[in-house]
Parts: sequence; C-alpha cells; structure tokens
Amino acid sequence: MLKIWGKAPLQGQVKISGAKNSALVVMAGSLLCPQDCRIRNVPSLVDVQRMGEILSSLGVKLERHGDALEIDSRHIGQSKAPYELVSQLRASFFVIGPLLARLGVARVPLPGGCAIGARPVDLHVKGLQLMGADVQIEHGTVHAYTTGANKRLKGAKIYLDYPSVGATETLMMAATLADGETIIENAAQEPEVVDLANFCRAMGAKIRGAGTNTILISGVPNLHSTDYSIIPDRIEAGTFLVAGAITHSEIALAPVVPDHLAAVIAKLQAIGAEVVTEAPNRLRIVPAQTHFAADIETLPYPGFPTDMQAQFMALLTLSEGDSVITETVFENRLRHVAELNRMGADIRVKGNHAIVRGVPLLSGAQL
Ligand code: UD1
Repeated sequence: MLKIWGKAPLQGQVKISGAKNSALVVMAGSLLCPQDCRIRNVPSLVDVQRMGEILSSLGVKLERHGDALEIDSRHIGQSKAPYELVSQLRASFFVIGPLLARLGVARVPLPGGCAIGARPVDLHVKGLQLMGADVQIEHGTVHAYTTGANKRLKGAKIYLDYPSVGATETLMMAATLADGETIIENAAQEPEVVDLANFCRAMGAKIRGAGTNTILISGVPNLHSTDYSIIPDRIEAGTFLVAGAITHSEIALAPVVPDHLAAVIAKLQAIGAEVVTEAPNRLRIVPAQTHFAADIETLPYPGFPTDMQAQFMALLTLSEGDSVITETVFENRLRHVAELNRMGADIRVKGNHAIVRGVPLLSGAQL
C-alpha cells in the first residue's frame, strides 16, 4: 500500500537507476557466457530478483554486491525454466534465446497474458524456427531444439512483422552463437536493444546495426567473460520529469542519456514545461504556470514510449484543453483511466483512444 499526501511541491535531485528492461535482458544474456560476468548499475527491484531466481533454477550462481551482480553461468544444469517464475515475469521468456544457443535445447513456459494485453510470443518462435530450431508448443510450454549435428542454430534472414523489443532481443542473443550470419529486419531500435548488443559485443559477439531497423549478427563459436554497466533508466527519468511538471516543481535528474528521452522531452515542451540539459548526463525540469493539452500516440522507439503513456495522461488531466491519447503498442493499456476518473479526472475512452479534458484539480481517493 502507498499513502500519498498531495499538494506538496517537490524539490531536489534524483539519482536515476540502471534501466530495468536492460538489466533483465542482460541477465538473460549472461547465459550465453561460459565464464563469470559482472553487471553493474543493476536496479534493486522485485523483477530483477525474480530474474535472478529463474537463472538460479537453471544452475547459474549469482551474487549481488551493491549495484553489481556477479553471474557465473559455467554450469547450466537445467534447460527448463519453472512455470511459477516465468508466469510472474514476462521478460523471463527471453531466456529461450540464450538457452537454445548455448545448450541446443530450451523449455520455457508460455508467459501467458498480463494486465496490459495478451502479449504473444509468436515472433520469437518464428524467428527461432527460421534459425533452424524445431519448436513445439505442448502443455503450455515452448520446447525448442536445435537439429544440426553440431547443436548450433543457423544464421538466417528474419523479417519481424512488428518491431518487437523482446523478439529482437531473443533473436539477437540466439544469433550470437549461431553458425553464419543472421539479419533481423524491422528490428526494434530501443536503447535497451542497443544496450544488450553492447553487452554481447563486450563478450565477443559480432553485432552491427543495433539501434537501426536492421541488425546483422555474425555467429561466433563462443563468448567470454565481461564487466558491463547498464544504461540509465529512461522511463524512470521520464517519470520524474512528469512528476516535476505535474507538481509544478523543479527537479534535477542524473545520470540520464537525454537522447533516449527525445520524444518525452519534446512532448513536455509542447505541453509548456521547459527541460534544460544542464550537463551531458543531467536534466532539469522547469514547469510552466499553466500546462496545455497535447495529443500523444505511443509507438515503437524513437516514437513516444508506451511505458510513459500513463504518466502523461495524469499530467494532461490537469492541463488546459482537450488531449487525445492513442495507445498503439498494447491492446489493453488504458486501465488507469477509470482510477484517474475516480480522482476527478475527465477522461473518456473509445477503442484505443482516450480523450482527456483538463480539469483544475484532482482529489485524493482510494485506488
Ligand atoms: C518491452 C518492455 C516493455 C515495453 C515494451 C514496448 C521489457 C522487459 N519490457 O516489452 O516495458 O512496454 O517493450 O516498448 O523489455 N508482440 C507480438 N508477438 C510477439 C511479441 C510481441 O504480437 O512475439 C506484440 C505485443 O503483444 C505488443 C507489441 O508486440 O502488442 C509490442 O511488444 P514488445 O515490443 O515485444 O514488448 P516486450 O518486449 O514484451
């Protein structure tokens, strides 16, 4: 339970943690490495702990020292991830790529639906099949095997119907140890995909084009130990920028990569707030007296992030005029509307659009 006393201005500086979505997939990626890996700047979150439990269940040894994780994936004794853990953390499905690449076999339960939609994994599965894996889905579990004599996946040309972050990451990890070159077209361009590529490259993988819509991976026979630091969390940073705007407070944030926040900063400026780059890795939000309505459409990166949609909706409830928010990435990600309305917001939903009419004030409520 969280209890919040409103109408208080915020002030000060916030230290931004390492990116959750990078940390989770980099942890999965450490399965590719038959030696010790150190990952720094890992945020302290339940999801990170869960991913750690999944890796442990596979035989990986993990130790946490402050914000660093020491991971020893020398001995993977198990190719099946446990249902109880995978069902709690969708990102844990991403172990399928590195497990298959490293062991030639992986059994991972389907993650199932979650609060924001059905979230299928068909793009992950189709890509692995194109790389020569035999994939069967039985009793809710994805069973994947490599079929070649040397147990290696084969390089392939893969076009993703949608630039899925998870599918791009699964296939990029799988391709690092494949025989030959893999090309992922219409790949996701999110900074977390680039972070994963940089982590894999630090282990000796050959990857080009991460951060563009075409990623090329030349498979290598094995990877090696590395010491890697996760990028700052752009969603945490964006959330604090909105917190500053909504409470009319000046807040400074560091460390951040301002480029990763381009769409968020542009939208805050359109609403009337000022975002100042005080140093290459430091931002300050300077709110306006009055904020104005703005339309938002969520899109794959570099478009406006779906993970910032709810926060901006909260801000727009208190901005002057009518805003239209369109959610295109997930089919069921407007469930916060009803709760905001209970606080006095004026929001109507039609399909994947939310029409937000600004009100002067929200009031506290039990949510
Ligand atoms: C990741 C992020 C999540 C973010 C999302 C979009 C992690 C751990 N989570 O989730 O915070 O909101 O990117 O930026 O990194 N889809 C399919 N088939 C597939 C895979 C995805 O249809 O095989 C669909 C999904 O249902 C969804 C859309 O593609 O509608 C985007 O999903 P995707 O980019 O894969 O998001 P995640 O990797 O799950």
